[in-house]
Amino acid sequence: MRFDIITIFPGLLESLLTAGVLKKAVEKGILQVRVHDLRDYTTDKHRQVDDRPYGGLEGMVLKPEPIFRAVEAIREPVESVTCLLTPQGERFDSRLAEKLAGYRQVILICGRYEGVDERVVEHLVDREISIGDYVLTGGELAAAVVVEAVSRFVPGVVGKEESVRHDSFTAGLLDFPQYTRPREYRGYRVPSVLFSGDHKKIARWRLKKALEKTLARRPDLLESRQLSSEEEELLEEIKKERKDS
Ligand code: ADE
Repeated sequence: MRFDIITIFPGLLESLLTAGVLKKAVEKGILQVRVHDLRDYTTDKHRQVDDRPYGGLEGMVLKPEPIFRAVEAIREPVESVTCLLTPQGERFDSRLAEKLAGYRQVILICGRYEGVDERVVEHLVDREISIGDYVLTGGELAAAVVVEAVSRFVPGVVGKEESVRHDSFTAGLLDFPQYTRPREYRGYRVPSVLFSGDHKKIARWRLKKALEKTLARRPDLLESRQLSSEEEELLEEIKKERKDS
């Protein structure tokens, strides 16, 4: 699968995307990530990508022509989706990440300044995406977030597919706690169940911990989830323990 990112700050993204899991996936040929400088798609001497807003206001707006030109040059005749990163977009989450991972090409346009000419939104992009209810100076960090999260759903990118399936949000619950050596540090002990060798018991303990954390921090995730009978049972147990303590 291929990501094409259109930005006026290509340097910002190149370093972020050439490390770790993504770098390995690119080397293995599973992923291609290309960063495109929007200024390369201008035709004027000053390589101007922005201009003052009609109607008068502070700030600058990204012009439509270079963005249309860039997308039309980059878009391949494959299953392709073009997204604009903007705080006005639909909220990015694990479900959307998985959906985007189904495309052969994902084009990400990084918004900047006070905005992007609305004709880009209306006539060029398929989706507008926001990574959260806060305003960044531009879409570059948001694009990096999207590339990283989507890539994890592309087969072969994450070592063990298992680890994606068990991830928070993919499983619909927050993660259970993890421990490694030493068994005791400054008197803080790793829970003894993890040394029991009883895999069923460990799995139940992990599920209970995940439910506890989800109930405390993100009860909304539980409401939108079909609970198994084991989960129902554990939740009852947790609620009872809460009441008793
Ligand atoms: N550009 C600026 N803020 C953003 C956000 N929260 N999500 C996506 N793109 C953005």
